[in-house]
Amino acid sequence: MTLRSAVMLLGTAMMSSLTGAAVLLASGAASAQAGKPTVAILATGGTIAGKQPDPNAPGYKAGSFSIKDLETAVPQLKDVATISGQQVANIGSQNMHDAVWLKLLKAATETLAKPEVAGAVVTHGTDTIEETSYFLNLTLKSDKPVVLVGAMRPATALSADGPMNIYNGVVVAGSPQAKGRGVLVLMNDEIHYAAEITKTDTTHPNAMKSPNRGLAGVCDTGKCRFFSPTEKRHTTKSEFSISNDVTELPDVAIVYAHANLSSDLIEAAIKAGARGIVIAGVGDGNMTDPALDALGKAAKDGIVVVRSARVGKGVVKRNIEVDDDKLGFVAAQELNPQKARILLQLALMKTKDPGKIQKMFMEY
Ligand code: SIN
Repeated sequence: MTLRSAVMLLGTAMMSSLTGAAVLLASGAASAQAGKPTVAILATGGTIAGKQPDPNAPGYKAGSFSIKDLETAVPQLKDVATISGQQVANIGSQNMHDAVWLKLLKAATETLAKPEVAGAVVTHGTDTIEETSYFLNLTLKSDKPVVLVGAMRPATALSADGPMNIYNGVVVAGSPQAKGRGVLVLMNDEIHYAAEITKTDTTHPNAMKSPNRGLAGVCDTGKCRFFSPTEKRHTTKSEFSISNDVTELPDVAIVYAHANLSSDLIEAAIKAGARGIVIAGVGDGNMTDPALDALGKAAKDGIVVVRSARVGKGVVKRNIEVDDDKLGFVAAQELNPQKARILLQLALMKTKDPGKIQKMFMEY
């Protein structure tokens, strides 16, 4: 089954509701009558571009369809925007790495600098969509909307969720109301701030949540509205910028805490060259005494240690059960370990001072 025929199977019901949405959009700010916005799609792969070898059997390959296929599969995009496209990568996002991030940052920067481009949609796998969106949120110097979209079901699946996510994503990326809000992620009719979103389910279409501060907004077939803006620093207000000659980010390891955790993995990370360690702590960012001793020693030796939590929600504050002041640790605040890692990578490009890095964790 081709992607186009799969989407066609979704039937007239979706087509007619999308036509209705285009009309409603025309009454909004990004009006079709006043001239459609130009939205750039930057494609990186993922399940949204995934294909099942056999639609009746489990299993699929992420990153199988190209950006052209995705555009063809959602012909309604033409009603709401003029689309330009660029294939930045075509990978499953479990394979995301520094080189693709840096290439994507460059592509987004160049695209958004064009006066005619209103905003950008990045198609992306959901496994690391929270990491890429947060990386862009901290490094991209543009107020124009950037919206990452993914899908939990491959493009050839019955009831694929990708087409609607792309459609809503293009509407939001073309909307003046989305300007200045930082990088957004749109999945399952919900708009998330990059600093807030996390994946909470392995396969369900409702996998994305913003557990600490809630949603940025909601969409219903192209009718989108925003809630409160984020208080966190991002994009043009972020102090982090990456020049074109940077080829990789500082090495930061995540160590996952559990009952009986020894110092072995911490020592291995240091031996492998980590300049920073994020501990995905139990509870409120806690860990066993042997792990605490090893991290205390690491901090004394100039490795920056950040305490986050494996719990999935909540705030890791300073000096609750661990004496961060005495040990020279940083408390991750609301950032989960995978996002704490990214902020620490960028922080280490500027400083090794735990006090200055703690301030960054309060602000981003
Ligand atoms: C991926 O992250 O590329 C695979 C999983 C998905 O997109 O849902």
